[in-house]
Amino acid sequence: MQYLTIPGTDLCVSRISLGTWAIGGWMWGGTEERESIETIHAALNKGVNLIDTAPVYGFGASEQIVGKAVEEYGKRGELFLSTKAALEWKDGRVFRNGSRDRVMREIEDSLKRLRTDYIDIYFVHWPDLTRPIAETAKAMRDLYEQGVIKAVGVSNFTQDQMEAFRSESPLHVCQPPYNIFERGIESDIKPYCERNSITLMAYGALCRGLLSGKVSKERKFEGDDLRKVDPKFKEPRLSQYLKAADKLQKLAGKRFNKSLVAFAVRWVFEKGAPIAIWGGRTPSQMAPIDEIVGWSMDLATLSTVDSILAEFVKAPVGAEFMAPPTGLTG
Ligand SMILES: NC(=O)c1ccc[n+]([C@@H]2O[C@H](COP(=O)([O-])OP(=O)(O)OC[C@H]3O[C@@H](n4cnc5c(N)ncnc54)[C@H](OP(=O)(O)O)[C@@H]3O)[C@@H](O)[C@H]2O)c1
Repeated sequence: MQYLTIPGTDLCVSRISLGTWAIGGWMWGGTEERESIETIHAALNKGVNLIDTAPVYGFGASEQIVGKAVEEYGKRGELFLSTKAALEWKDGRVFRNGSRDRVMREIEDSLKRLRTDYIDIYFVHWPDLTRPIAETAKAMRDLYEQGVIKAVGVSNFTQDQMEAFRSESPLHVCQPPYNIFERGIESDIKPYCERNSITLMAYGALCRGLLSGKVSKERKFEGDDLRKVDPKFKEPRLSQYLKAADKLQKLAGKRFNKSLVAFAVRWVFEKGAPIAIWGGRTPSQMAPIDEIVGWSMDLATLSTVDSILAEFVKAPVGAEFMAPPTGLTG
């Protein structure tokens, strides 16, 4: 495992972070607590020391499972927990709320669920467009100055929104979507973070499984699984993405003797993102962690990836479908 110290902090974290959205069950067709705890332990045993969660993942369920898993594992002081604020839910519907009151209440709830008295990286999950960003930023700064959170982060922010945030608060980490199929940050957010020493913690390294080699046209998603509404999982796009994934899998195997999972996560690092969040919910899904370090891609490989995308993905689409509404309506 490779580790890095996040600039402006004392946090020395693994470059692979375990994402626990699916572990919360909501929008992933349910969860199983014991298997989830074992998944977290499997990742920790392989050197991952950074776990990403959020209150909204299962409306508290993911944080509770992470809290239990970390308590059982011990070594809280050697592990790093990232969680988030500024989303609220009512009757199963999610909306944004970046008010000071909301942030201050959420930190208390998250600390309880995570069974800890500090959060290592605290993110604003989505910007609240109904109020000044300064209000949310000041609340985050206060928590940072009190020492309750050790680093400040934002997620799904534009460059302008980060600029507004930084006029009121330090900003150490940015969490945007980034993977072989979702590259929208390359023109603005990524260079902005590089210029301003903000660490990129990219989410969705496997593009919700499309880059796992385990999705096919026949695969059915159960219950509330978000892939039922993900535009990439609908025809004609699904066939295009699957053809591209197949070509990428062959490239990974032939050139590097690696799985598509390892190739996709490695690609995020090769493109300059310091941290990749990779979501899983079974211990066996953590097996490829060992395959990701100790090798690199040459420029020819990176350009072959681009050619595969250009050849097969005719109508690319990003992760925008995940954006929650700005206010509760209806
Ligand atoms: N800040 C935000 O707004 C935001 C948004 C999205 C995600 N995130 C964070 O980023 C994390 C990762 O994103 P993500 O969970 O959406 O997607 P992801 O990492 O791109 O894909 C995760 C899915 O891929 C499949 N998978 C994982 N490892 C596998 C393996 N070894 N072999 C085969 N399939 C495998 C699993 O799906 P199946 O088990 O169904 O096959 C898993 O649930 C989240 O958990 C969350 O922490 C943050």
